[in-house]
Amino acid sequence: MTSPTGLLSDLDRVLLSADAIRDRVREMAARIAADYQGSVVTVVVLMDGALFFVADLLRQLDLPIRLVTLSASSYHGGTASTGEVRVQWPEAVEFAGQHVLLLDDIYDTGLTLSALRARLLTERPASLRTGVLLAKKRPRAAEVPLDYRGFEIEDEFVVGYGMDYQGRFRNLPCIGILKP
Ligand code: IMP
Ligand code: MG
Repeated sequence: MTSPTGLLSDLDRVLLSADAIRDRVREMAARIAADYQGSVVTVVVLMDGALFFVADLLRQLDLPIRLVTLSASSYHGGTASTGEVRVQWPEAVEFAGQHVLLLDDIYDTGLTLSALRARLLTERPASLRTGVLLAKKRPRAAEVPLDYRGFEIEDEFVVGYGMDYQGRFRNLPCIGILKP
């Protein structure tokens, strides 16, 4: 697969190739479809990082879905979480009695997902599950029960496949580590 010119040259190394990601996302979709058979799933996507992951996952998912996008941030532009999670809550979206699947790109400190889960639970969904493409091996500020995880990675800052450094590199088809 070709890559957006110039982006690859900023990488120190590729951690997960586009092919490896595609295969794993397909497996995750198959598991989710099996787990939710017969239900409509309200998929809550944390923008913008999870955009590419979820777009690929949902196109492999043989289930009726409702899609809800949310914006939350704890990084505010740097490479380390600020610890404060800001969420823009959507108006007029019904979560009560719905099977909600919360999806994000990466489980890092856990603050974002834990804040979102707590907020979603106040809406009394019929069920709430959480999935991520990546989980970093590191101590958590907040533990979150993960129902679906794509890959375990070391505690390094990654870019690509939706994940950015200061707004760049989201459109890289692989996931990699930047040069220092
Ligand atoms: P947490 O609240 O610390 O778990 O952070 C979750 C959010 O931080 C994720 O949704 C990502 O948007 C962002 N994030 C965490 N680690 C990385 C990384 O290595 N690269 C890019 N974004 C990251
Ligand atoms: Mg994010």
